[in-house]
Amino acid sequence: MSKRPYERPYLRKLNAGLGNKFGTRHSQLPVTEIDGVPVASIMEEYGSPCFVLSEQTIRQTYRNAVRAFGTRYPKVQMAWSYKTNYLNAVCRIFHEEGSWAEVVSIFEYRKALGNGVPGHQILFNGPDKSADDLRFAVQNGSLIHIDHLDELYQLSEILANEDLKARVALRINMDTGVYPLWDRFGFNYENGSAWTAVTKVMAQSRMQLAGLHCHIGTYMLSSQAYAVAANKLCDLALEIRNQYQHRIEYLDLGGGFASGNTLKGSYLQGSDVIPTMDDYAEAISGAILQHPFGMSGELPTLFLESGRALIDDAGYLLGTVLALKRLGDGRRATIMDFGVNLLFTSFWYEHRISPAQDYSSHHEDMVLYGPLCMNIDVVRENVSLPLLQKGDRVVVHRVGAYNMTQWMQFIQMRPNVVLIDTRGKVHLIRRREDVQTLNNQELIPDYLEAVKGS
Ligand SMILES: Cc1ncc(COP(=O)(O)O)c(C=O)c1O
Repeated sequence: MSKRPYERPYLRKLNAGLGNKFGTRHSQLPVTEIDGVPVASIMEEYGSPCFVLSEQTIRQTYRNAVRAFGTRYPKVQMAWSYKTNYLNAVCRIFHEEGSWAEVVSIFEYRKALGNGVPGHQILFNGPDKSADDLRFAVQNGSLIHIDHLDELYQLSEILANEDLKARVALRINMDTGVYPLWDRFGFNYENGSAWTAVTKVMAQSRMQLAGLHCHIGTYMLSSQAYAVAANKLCDLALEIRNQYQHRIEYLDLGGGFASGNTLKGSYLQGSDVIPTMDDYAEAISGAILQHPFGMSGELPTLFLESGRALIDDAGYLLGTVLALKRLGDGRRATIMDFGVNLLFTSFWYEHRISPAQDYSSHHEDMVLYGPLCMNIDVVRENVSLPLLQKGDRVVVHRVGAYNMTQWMQFIQMRPNVVLIDTRGKVHLIRRREDVQTLNNQELIPDYLEAVKGS
């Protein structure tokens, strides 16, 4: 018998559609309005693509979080996480609701000041604070959250040279049972670095250790991880009280509460699996209240820096179908006028996408591409949608967090952003960019001034 020719094995990806226990097909109603404003009218006036923010949803979500924590713990203070969405109009809504500011760079710090936040209501986090940044923040009376020893020593030098005093907190990282550990920021609890940092701050006559801070991760699906974190911060605070007779004024549990988005590869919809604000509040407040801080006047204030959970649901991206095609393997591909340049979060979320007009009952699994001439520009690798046609409009849901800060100015410029106020009036809050926006930042050396394309 002759030897049969070798054929090399290969792996082929199966496109099984959105299989889950509810079946593969899912219908949805078209989304033709946001807060009572027709999607079509927004796109006619402000173009496509266009980001839309709902003030009503921002305020409702914020108030729900304040209610969840405020009914369980007597002293709660929110600090809006600027990097999540630092459009000034958005920040001002949070500040009007009573939120302080949590910033991680001097650029965000200045934005917060510009939004009317007094220096003493700014929490300054992050690993990158220059000597000038620290000096400026201390002079403004802000709370400096120290990330590493080099920052501590630099701050010490500034305070001594300039005869200043600073209110500081230490960022602590820890094992909360959720892996991988977020241990690159702050001082580790388990290996003793956190206590070493405490001893160093307590030895500084110009630093007042006001708080202990942690931010244990993001999109945390376990509310119990927060109970573990709160327990560890409380133990540290009480150890400081025992050893130094020094009272820690506040515990900052950071952010990380999940929004209703669905993570890639998740079996169930995000909104079905995430803990509620009440779950997070119960875990954190329950843990703190079990520690012997004394009467309520002695309890540390609880700071929260929630970002995505407070803004994601309030954001929409409106877009238009540019073209359709069949891929080599037969799949339908729909090319949109927005891609990963605007939807950074599509790298880890399966964003819900709704048609913005009536459609026939036929659905098909398809790939959704963006407009960039780059292979990475995939918004959804496999989504079951009605047979969208060129010119059809869509609404992408839950895009309020991190997209309007991490958006890329790459191939396409950033689009208009509008806010629908609580009375249904639409306001432009960030103008679309154009070639002039780019050129404004560029300089041509003299010897290239005269060059003209041949
Ligand atoms: C220190 C700090 N606080 C708050 C946040 C907000 O996190 P989230 O949007 O997950 O609530 C972050 C985000 O990474 C952060 O680094």
